[in-house]
Amino acid sequence: MKPRTDEIVSVVREEIARYRRRLAAGGAAGFASGPIAETIRREVASYRAALETAHVGRVLEVGDGIAQIYGLSEAMAGELLEFDNGEMGQVFNLADNSVGAVIYGSCEDIKAGDTVRRTGRLLDVPVGEELLGRVVDPLGRPLDGGPAIAAGKRRPVETPAPGIADRQPVNEPLQTGLKAIDAMTPIGRGQRELIIGDRKTGKTAIAVDAIINQTGGDVICIYVAIGQKESTVAGVVETLRAHGAMEHTIVVSAASSAAAPLQYVAPYAGCAIGEHFMHEQGRAVLVVYDDLSKQAAAYREVSLLLRRPPGREAYPGDVFYLHSRLLERACKLADRYVIVPADTPADRSDVAPGQKVYVGPAGRREAQADAAKMTPAGGWRVHRLPTSGGSLTALPICETQEGEVSAYIPTNLISITDGQIYLEPSLFFAGVRPAINVGISVSRVGYKAAVGAMKKAAAGLRIDLAAYRELAAYTQVSMTVDAATQRQLDRGQRLVRLLTQPQYSPMHVVDQAISLYAATRGYFDMVAVEKVPAHEAALLRFVREQHAPLRAAMMDDLLLPGEREKELRAALADFRDKTLVPAVAAAKAPPARGGGEGP
Ligand SMILES: Nc1ncnc2c1ncn2[C@@H]1O[C@H](COP(=O)(O)OP(=O)(O)OP(=O)(O)O)[C@@H](O)[C@H]1O
Ligand SMILES: [Mg+2]
Repeated sequence: MKPRTDEIVSVVREEIARYRRRLAAGGAAGFASGPIAETIRREVASYRAALETAHVGRVLEVGDGIAQIYGLSEAMAGELLEFDNGEMGQVFNLADNSVGAVIYGSCEDIKAGDTVRRTGRLLDVPVGEELLGRVVDPLGRPLDGGPAIAAGKRRPVETPAPGIADRQPVNEPLQTGLKAIDAMTPIGRGQRELIIGDRKTGKTAIAVDAIINQTGGDVICIYVAIGQKESTVAGVVETLRAHGAMEHTIVVSAASSAAAPLQYVAPYAGCAIGEHFMHEQGRAVLVVYDDLSKQAAAYREVSLLLRRPPGREAYPGDVFYLHSRLLERACKLADRYVIVPADTPADRSDVAPGQKVYVGPAGRREAQADAAKMTPAGGWRVHRLPTSGGSLTALPICETQEGEVSAYIPTNLISITDGQIYLEPSLFFAGVRPAINVGISVSRVGYKAAVGAMKKAAAGLRIDLAAYRELAAYTQVSMTVDAATQRQLDRGQRLVRLLTQPQYSPMHVVDQAISLYAATRGYFDMVAVEKVPAHEAALLRFVREQHAPLRAAMMDDLLLPGEREKELRAALADFRDKTLVPAVAAAKAPPARGGGEGP
């Protein structure tokens, strides 16, 4: 509260008027200063009680995105601060006489002596549908030249991860459209799968393909670019736009030119934007963090500048927590149920105040028991809230140096995530793209969520590839091999060729299953390795045109039960006889002399 000077002035005026009146009346009484002194004392006392300097501090020193501030004795850790020039900052260090803050923006026109105001808020970002198709910075300010985000809602950038009771196991697949991943390291909704590899091994390409594959689906995608070149980010946005994928995508970018604090906070902001769709709308969200090694470096920079003690590789001691608290926020939320009158529409999502909400499978059983006891009997049903059961799938990316997966940040990330896709430069340069090293790539939870048709089709794939790799290494030194070994080598070469997939051409999981079923059952063994992609395309066309009911049935339930598997086998035999055998015969026949149809 400010001292009310007008109050003091009015008391003084009153006393003077009273004194004059007394003088005019011929009285001899002196001037009564008591009431004036009393008022001043009271006002000063009330001014002290609400000292405003508790909310405004002064910059002691500033530079490199960091400010030391004096006078914010009541500031809280993580509190948002506002500088004179409008830039926002956040309290990081609480020291005895000062606070250390990071500045989210340029610190060029912040000087020592400038005032800094506490806001009493935590850092938050705008969230909601308004962000779809937009490119924003970690504070939700547009970077795409478009209008400011007019989102009605905001969400704190850092929130605790959902607890165990609020989650359910991963049980739905998230299709990336890449055969090598969907078949061998399938990803489930709510899973965290690390994409790890050296520079320029196609890490971003996998994430971009996964986002493109969600076009027309129900998944909202968020691409968080950290410490990348602006031109690279612009390229990704352009690619997504060209493939119609920006409609369901939000890009959060803190490019390499952005201040280190912005790069540090970008993944949390992207996660918060995704969480809104998961928590409030029950949607499935895919968040790509590209990449977290750069975020860790930005955090190291901030920490060193704030004079926090450096640990291994100069990273601060809490760098594990930096990533664990981010990736723990990825999850599949439990379904929630309420008991409603039997005629309630299925899309009702509001919960009456005081109404009991049942969580998870146990909650559902309890709700069913409760509903059965209610009167009138049959007048009630257990209703799954459509806003529950959302998921947030995380695809963090990590860059390694010289394939060193045992470095500090990579080992941290590997231990936090539910599996990793390891990309190898030697494979990449040999033309195997995506350059996935099948041996050390794993998905620890996605198998349970994979679709039935794919599980069946890819059953022997990993073993075949492992056997192939072993034999291929051996036959490099020995020239002669027996027939059985040669068969395995042939199979392996064709599988590797089949799993090679060009960029921006994600495949539907049913098509993937059909072509992998054919390859693992040896249908492509008779054709030349370099012809495999052409024959694969021919096979898919053949099934689509000649066996449409089979494909439609697979599309419908994504399964391959015994009867249908027989049907698929018949279709493949049909394809072999009608297309593959003639093609192989034509390739083996000596070139016709003269005539022919040209090259
Ligand atoms: N499946 C693929 N087929 C053909 N080319 C590919 C494939 N995947 C990636 N590439 C190419 O490889 C190059 C590197 O890919 P990308 O930028 O995704 O790698 P990165 O690991 O993300 O690189 P950085 O370390 O710079 O982030 C790009 O030119 C990309 O077009
Ligand atoms: Mg990249």
